[in-house]
Amino acid sequence: MNIVYKDALDLKESVLIIPVFEFEDEISFNDFTVSKTVFSGKKDSVYIKVEKNSILFFIGLGKNPNYRTTKTIFRRISAKHTSYLKEKAAIIFPEKFDDNLVEASILGFVLGTYSIGHYKTDKKENAFATDFTLELISKSNLKDRTEKGVKIANAQLQTLALVDLPPNTVTPEYLANWAINAGKKYGFDVKVYGTEESLKFGLHAFTAVGQGSDRESQFIIMDYYPHHSKKHIGLVGKGITFDTGGLNIKTAGMVHMKCDMAGGAAVLGAMQLIADLQLPFRVTAIVPACENAVDAKSYFPSDVIQSYHGSSIEIIDTDAEGRLILADGLSYLIKNYSPETIVDVATLTGSAVATLGYECAALFTNNSGLSQKLQHSGDQIGERLWQLPLWDEYKSDIDSEIADVKNYSGKPVAGAISAAKFLEYFTDSHPSWAHIDIAGVAFGDDEFAKSKHATAFGVHLITNFIENL
Ligand code: BES
Ligand code: ZN
Ligand code: ZN
Repeated sequence: MNIVYKDALDLKESVLIIPVFEFEDEISFNDFTVSKTVFSGKKDSVYIKVEKNSILFFIGLGKNPNYRTTKTIFRRISAKHTSYLKEKAAIIFPEKFDDNLVEASILGFVLGTYSIGHYKTDKKENAFATDFTLELISKSNLKDRTEKGVKIANAQLQTLALVDLPPNTVTPEYLANWAINAGKKYGFDVKVYGTEESLKFGLHAFTAVGQGSDRESQFIIMDYYPHHSKKHIGLVGKGITFDTGGLNIKTAGMVHMKCDMAGGAAVLGAMQLIADLQLPFRVTAIVPACENAVDAKSYFPSDVIQSYHGSSIEIIDTDAEGRLILADGLSYLIKNYSPETIVDVATLTGSAVATLGYECAALFTNNSGLSQKLQHSGDQIGERLWQLPLWDEYKSDIDSEIADVKNYSGKPVAGAISAAKFLEYFTDSHPSWAHIDIAGVAFGDDEFAKSKHATAFGVHLITNFIENL
């Protein structure tokens, strides 16, 4: 998509997208007026006027559009009105539209080019995405925020595809290659340890989870280290490319478990975006990537395994695998890189979904400044977080009699909290660590496809959080 900037409309334009606030007295354009009874600018409403030489698209923004609603409204236009969007369209931004809303509009408009039909034999390259010219008409300078909107969209498009593509394509090796290529393209270092190296370094909790799989586990380490960097941030993302549950095999919902690398994909997308925006922060990110498969070689419930941390872990349930690979990711990051602030992102528990549903992710941290900053970022860009407790009273859930800790309490209560307590154990009381359980928000239903699909939750949240540190 080519984007051009103009301060006035050229009458040759044939498709005009005209966003309208609800409280405008009379909605008109040039000499055309829309009756308020037909269209009043209500959120999610559209009025299309087809004329001889032009198509006018009036888009209702409602009274007080925020980042998220604006993004969705524009995504809807480009996703659903493709027949009108052949070569060129112009958006006429209202004067009251601030820079954030311009960014959200462009982000949504570019995201609308995405479809989940990756394997449709007749899937056409989206001409709209490539040979299309979008003109932005405004008196103010929109270039910076428009370019930023496109960069956010490009990173989210990558994450959407990583999560939506099937697990026989997106294997641990595929994620590792993705990271290597993105590192070359955007400018960050990437190291990958296969099983042999991971064992040599003592990443035993990580290798235990992948030992039942034919596809080799990949421990992916990325380091974006610009000159004059301010703080050093660490990220960890769960990269289970498929979660069968292991020998504690899943009896429900297994078909959706290609989404179990969505935390890892969010971290990968965020690394692309952070480097693309050239943020002045050092960011070291780890994505432990493997399959939780069923096989004679799979780890057993009641096994005791070791970890990079040096602590032993009793396996109660092989389906509580995410916390094991994250434990090694977190302790490897802390021991080797000592970042000042650490955020991990994971589709970790069904309990987070049962608690908060599909509206927000669960946030865990002992650092109130960190929780405020993360929640603030989430509110700004429409990826919301809600904090749950990490009190020490929950620590007994992971006490083991045979090992240092166990991976599951065995009780059907407070599952998201005890999983977070397990991770906390491996952070050695790091003063600035946060865990985000995205099980309810990473993959779901919305108007953009009939089956469940990726949301790219976390890519923008992490990036916005870092740039505002
Ligand atoms: N990958 C799942 C969690 C999940 C659930 C992700 C729903 C996305 C949507 C995780 O590995 C898991 O299986 N968790 C178990 C843990 C239990 C066995 C202790 C759960 O939450 O049921
Ligand atoms: Zn599991
Ligand atoms: Zn899992």
